[in-house]
This record gives sequence, structure tokens and C-alpha cells, in this order.
Amino acid sequence: MTKTQKSIQQYCQDHTSPPSLILQDLERQTYLKTLAPQMISGYFQGRLLSMLSQMIRPKTILEIGTFTGYSAICLAEGLLPNGKLHTIEVNPEYHSLSQQYFVKAVLSNMIEQYLGDALTIIPRLNLTFDLVFIDASKVSYPLYFDLIFEKTSGGGYILVDNMLWSGKVLEDDDDPETNALRNFAKKLQDDTRLENILLPIRDGLMICRKT
Ligand SMILES: C[S@@+](CC[C@H](N)C(=O)[O-])C[C@H]1O[C@@H](n2cnc3c(N)ncnc32)[C@H](O)[C@@H]1O
Repeated sequence: MTKTQKSIQQYCQDHTSPPSLILQDLERQTYLKTLAPQMISGYFQGRLLSMLSQMIRPKTILEIGTFTGYSAICLAEGLLPNGKLHTIEVNPEYHSLSQQYFVKAVLSNMIEQYLGDALTIIPRLNLTFDLVFIDASKVSYPLYFDLIFEKTSGGGYILVDNMLWSGKVLEDDDDPETNALRNFAKKLQDDTRLENILLPIRDGLMICRKT
């Protein structure tokens, strides 16, 4: 990132409403207690997720990739009063931290946590989602998408993180993640059942609307 890009990013963050103290604390704890803290959505993308969710006002949300729970809390900020967010995480190491912060945020009755592989858990969920956030294994993105599509309500939204993969999708990189993300972007673009927009925010956030 150039100096100008960094300054623009900082200026945008400086003019974005800050997250709650609980989220600020969770971000700090994630950096202190996990080995890959950069996976967290964090301040700016977190505020965008919250804003989108507050615009959509979903009754049910599905998140694939809980990590420490930061994006789950952001998305839950837009839930209808009796709504529920379902979030799936395969790594048990993060469970106690996310659980602790769902309690602190007084969201434990609105957030259902599932521990295991999303590919086996999603087919068991007999629910329809107004908003889905895909943010787990990059090579599995097309599989997650195929599993959640019929469970997404008409007019519902599917958000997908890391679609730019640090810019690698534009370069000659030929690793499995980069190829999967390139192919997945094409799959979404070719899907006539969707309207989509890829935002160059953070690592690339795709917003799809199921028509
Ligand atoms: C980028 S992190 C999620 C970050 C989180 N959504 C946030 O914004 O704070 C991706 C998470 O997906 C989890 N994950 C990877 N493969 C998964 C799978 N097959 N099923 C469920 N979770 C998975 C990883 O363990 C990791 O915690």
C-alpha cells in the first residue's frame, strides 16, 4: 500500500463512527491471544458490516467463519429484535473468546454458535437467511455458496470477504486460494440469479443480492 493509500484509509477511518468499547477490546484481545489476528474484520470493515446489516434489517443471518466473533457482533447490530445470527467455526481454539464477547455484548441469546466444518453443518440447518457472510476457507467458497444459495431468501444478501486476496487475483499467482477466488468471482459474475458489486475495501468485499 502506498503512503497516499494509507493516508486515505486513515482519513476514511477517522471519519467513520467508532465501534463499541466491547468491539475495541475484542480486537485488542484477538491481537494478544491468537496467532493470526489479521483475520479479524476490524474497525473499518466491521463498521461497514454493521451499517449494511442495519440497512437490511435481517431476521436471520448466517456467518461462515466466526474466528473471535468480531464480525458476528458487527452483523448482529442490524438484527431485528427477535432475530438470530448463526455462526460456524471449525477451530475450537477461538470458541471461548468469541463466547465470552457474545456474553459481554449481551448477544448470547441472539447468536447461535456451531463448532465444526461449515460444509457438514450448513446442510443440517433447516433455515432461511436474509443475510449471509462467507469468510472461511477460500478454496471452499464455491461450495459454501452452492450450499447457502437455496437457503438465502429472495432479495437476500450474500457478502463475501477477501475477494481481492491482497491483489493476488490480479497477478500471476497460481496457488489454490488465488485460483479458487478468481474462479469464484467469475462464477458470481456469470450467475444471472444475482446482482453483485465488488468493493475494493480492505481485502475486497463482494456484495451479492439474490434477485
Ligand atoms: C478470516 S477468519 C474469520 C474472521 C471473522 N469473520 C471476522 O471478521 O472477525 C476465517 C475463519 O474461518 C474458519 N474456518 C476455516 N475453514 C472453515 C470451515 N470449513 N468451516 C468453518 N470455519 C472455517 C477459520 O478457522 C477462521 O477462524
